Amino acid sequence: MKGSSEESIESIRPSNLQAFANISTLHGMSHIFAYGHMTFRRFLWTLSFLGSLGLLMLVCMDRVSYYLEYPHVTKLDEVAATNLTFPSVTFCNLNEFRFSKITRNDLYHVGELLALLNNNYQIANPHLAEPEVLAALKDKANFQNFKPKLFNMTDFYNRTGHDINDMLLQCTFRGEDCYPVNFSTIYTRYGKCYTFNSGLDGNPLLTTLKGGTGNGLEIMLDIQQDEYLPVWGETDETSYEAGIKVQIHSQDEPPFIDQLGFGVAPGFQTFVSCQQQLLQYLPPPWGDCKSTPIDSEFFSTYSITACRIDCETRYLLENCNCRMVHMPGTSTVCTPEQYKDCADPALDFLVEKDNDYCVCQTPCNMTRYGKELSMVKIPSKASAKYLAKKFNKTEQYIGENILVLDIFFEALNYEKIEQKKAYEIAGLLGDIGGQMGLFIGASVLTILEIFDYLYESTCDTLRSHSDSLGFTPNMLPRHPTLGNFEEFAC
Ligand SMILES: *[C@@H]1O[C@H](CO)[C@@H](O)[C@H](O)[C@H]1NC(C)=O
Ligand SMILES: *[C@@H]1O[C@H](CO)[C@@H](O)[C@H](O)[C@H]1NC(C)=O
Ligand SMILES: *[C@@H]1O[C@H](CO)[C@@H](O)[C@H](O)[C@H]1NC(C)=O
Ligand SMILES: *[C@@H]1O[C@H](CO)[C@@H](O)[C@H](O)[C@H]1NC(C)=O
Ligand SMILES: *[C@@H]1O[C@H](CO)[C@@H](O)[C@H](O)[C@H]1NC(C)=O
Ligand SMILES: *[C@@H]1O[C@H](CO)[C@@H](O)[C@H](O)[C@H]1NC(C)=O
Repeated sequence: MKGSSEESIESIRPSNLQAFANISTLHGMSHIFAYGHMTFRRFLWTLSFLGSLGLLMLVCMDRVSYYLEYPHVTKLDEVAATNLTFPSVTFCNLNEFRFSKITRNDLYHVGELLALLNNNYQIANPHLAEPEVLAALKDKANFQNFKPKLFNMTDFYNRTGHDINDMLLQCTFRGEDCYPVNFSTIYTRYGKCYTFNSGLDGNPLLTTLKGGTGNGLEIMLDIQQDEYLPVWGETDETSYEAGIKVQIHSQDEPPFIDQLGFGVAPGFQTFVSCQQQLLQYLPPPWGDCKSTPIDSEFFSTYSITACRIDCETRYLLENCNCRMVHMPGTSTVCTPEQYKDCADPALDFLVEKDNDYCVCQTPCNMTRYGKELSMVKIPSKASAKYLAKKFNKTEQYIGENILVLDIFFEALNYEKIEQKKAYEIAGLLGDIGGQMGLFIGASVLTILEIFDYLYESTCDTLRSHSDSLGFTPNMLPRHPTLGNFEEFAC
């Protein structure tokens, strides 16, 4: 009994090609390797099998090369939210220094930088000045018997920048009054600026529960044009324009208002309707966003802005050995001479001409705010008198200096723009499996069958080889590991 069952198993064993072909699940095999001699029918089967195999290889190669292109698709979704975090709103007066706060010592040090004095400490362009400005300037520029004192650029920016206590006339957020304490001070290239809802100073982040004007921020500002510096030349520290620059940004991102801000003019009420957008990009090889953590001593979260500020700071430290007041860090602040001769030209070079030094990759996660601006005139003819009385100014002053800014969400939803991998390893396997089924009727297990057959036939050859040499297993002391291997293997 025992012997006969062993024999039947032995005969089923696919150790010869025809037997294997007969039981193989690979379509066509049984026709190709049929018993008997070559016929025209077998030849046709062989031809079609090889043709199918060739097509399969072609299609698989196409799929694999498509996979290696790492394709992606972009998905746009509109997501409804129950509440949205209000963005940070940073604004800067376009004028950096208040004329009335500049002392004689300040003028002595920065007069040339601001193009008010020439290099002999004399008033540069007296014919351009208004009489009363010239009188004030002449008084300050009287350096007879004057001993220059120590001068501190940080302190100068802080002391002469527009003060929010004077600028902010009214402020409401969702109908609740807000005050200068709700704004944090931040320095940018425009000097002293203010950020609402920065999340700094331990204030919790504000949220909105509805879209529309009434659920946002409304501020009324006095831009104080009387305090604007006279402009007699083109420098990086003076501006021809009057108004404020505003940037709406997420709390993770420092403001970069001189490049990314939009302007708001006095004499108008400006409505800014925002739409929050979340952008998610893919890291290489699918996309080109930056997935590695930021390598900076100043910032902890990566954003394009943080990268650019970090890079500008490093460039100035390398080239001028100092930093500008608005740059992070603890290194020494540039003197007015360094501003004029090195820092301003270097920064202008980086902003306008450089293509190599500051190359910043897109972050993988980004929040941006789409904006729609519209404006109406303020004050109206009818309200000019009332406002003049309310703020104790002339009607002309109100018309030239007052602006109102409304920032609100258009609706309580955000756009999610997401890059997604279009073709992953599972898709590739599925495609190859499908093609294998279509062309040659094979699966993973069929491939195992082939390996099994090759293994069995190798064993057979080994066995017949050792038999023909005439060894019996017990005749010679065998190498222990080799013997074990052979027993295990066959
Ligand atoms: C805002 O929504 C989050 C959940 O989405 C919730 O935890 C939070 O309390 C909400 N805040 C307010 C002020 O309703
Ligand atoms: C300049 O003033 C700031 C504070 O206003 C101070 O922290 C800094 O040490 C001063 N720098 C110099 C060189 O005196
Ligand atoms: C800026 O000036 C104010 C007073 O005008 C002072 O309290 C504050 O400490 C100064 N800040 C810096 C950074 O010097
Ligand atoms: C303004 O700040 C005060 C004090 O920190 C706080 O109580 C108030 O809620 C803030 N207002 C807004 C609108 O954030
Ligand atoms: C981006 O945001 C998603 C979900 O909001 C988060 O799962 C992912 O870790 C974030 N990626 C990075 C690099 O911050
Ligand atoms: C209005 O302003 C003038 C100077 O501009 C000042 O003399 C006067 O006291 C102010 N009136 C009130 C009520 O504040």
